[in-house]
Amino acid sequence: SFYFKGVKHLCETGVTHVPSKYILPVSDRPHLINEQDDVQELNLKLPIIDFAELHGSNRSRVLDSLRSACENHGFFQLVNHGISGDVISNMMDVGRRFFELPFEERQKLMSTDMRSPVRYGTSFNQTKDGVFCWRDFLKLVCHPLSDVLPHWPSSPLDFRNKGVAYANESKAVFLKLVEAILESLELTTMGKRTRETEEILKEFEDGSHLMVLNCYPPCPQPELTFGMPPHSDYGFVTLVLQDEVAGLQIMEQNIWHTVQPVPNSFVVNVGDHLEIFSNGRYKSVLHRVLANSRKSRISVASLHSLPFESTVRPWPKLIDEKNPRQYMDTHFSDFQNYLDLCDAKKKNFLESRK
Ligand code: SIN
Ligand code: FE2
Repeated sequence: SFYFKGVKHLCETGVTHVPSKYILPVSDRPHLINEQDDVQELNLKLPIIDFAELHGSNRSRVLDSLRSACENHGFFQLVNHGISGDVISNMMDVGRRFFELPFEERQKLMSTDMRSPVRYGTSFNQTKDGVFCWRDFLKLVCHPLSDVLPHWPSSPLDFRNKGVAYANESKAVFLKLVEAILESLELTTMGKRTRETEEILKEFEDGSHLMVLNCYPPCPQPELTFGMPPHSDYGFVTLVLQDEVAGLQIMEQNIWHTVQPVPNSFVVNVGDHLEIFSNGRYKSVLHRVLANSRKSRISVASLHSLPFESTVRPWPKLIDEKNPRQYMDTHFSDFQNYLDLCDAKKKNFLESRK
């Protein structure tokens, strides 16, 4: 069908109304009072974690903020992460140029095989969504890089180089983050690794890494649809790079709040695997993306977790009399079935693990 060609293509044909395939039932709509107001008034200041401070005398204060951010918000903004501004702007730039390629070029990467190392698609899950959302995406498996790289787009010509530079840096930040998270959960102290934490870190070094490039073209009627419907992420943590256009919202105290873009920072969120690993201390929080009528928006989400063949379980040291086990052990592959499902089904799945 026409809709499977994606929203970028749809916009290139010059639509002035959202086609019915994208119109949500009234109860599921974003309920914008006024698009402008919504973005500005419910502006949420996320906790800011400064990675540069992690190695100085402020380490314990940074870890306290990290713990409180993961417990109370499930989200934080990471600054001074150590990735150079060039690597980041090159990634955003080559991502933007990828979506600007002629449709025929992007179409070569379209696949409905969920296990394909490279997949261009539209909506949330185009094989299952009844109502489509206003997003095109390119999903790239990033691990093991040498196996998957030959499948990555060869156009734009600099895509692979810039994508790999960024993917490697993202992985390095993730590993530093895991170390800090373990310490924030008091599984290590003063950066001193135990044999157990060495093992966890080793597992993550070989862990899964998925990069999702999102493109949200301007939408003529943003009140009728979503860029991305409400969902939580399955992995351990997600690092999101967004351009200067706001759109990402997170649920806090039953209200949707817009995350204002901060240049050169990452929006980091706790995924379901970390919620389980932490035995429920850290929360995987619902989030969504609004469409808007004014500007095209690009984001790059990097989903990091354990290797695909592992079992996700609460860490034994985080289970005791005062903190009884909250989740059953679950094989990663069981999450596969719901990777692309929305909010309700996913929450049911997570509930069933309790
Ligand atoms: C997400 O990956 O859930 C949102 C990414 C974005 O901000 O576009
Ligand atoms: Fe997400």
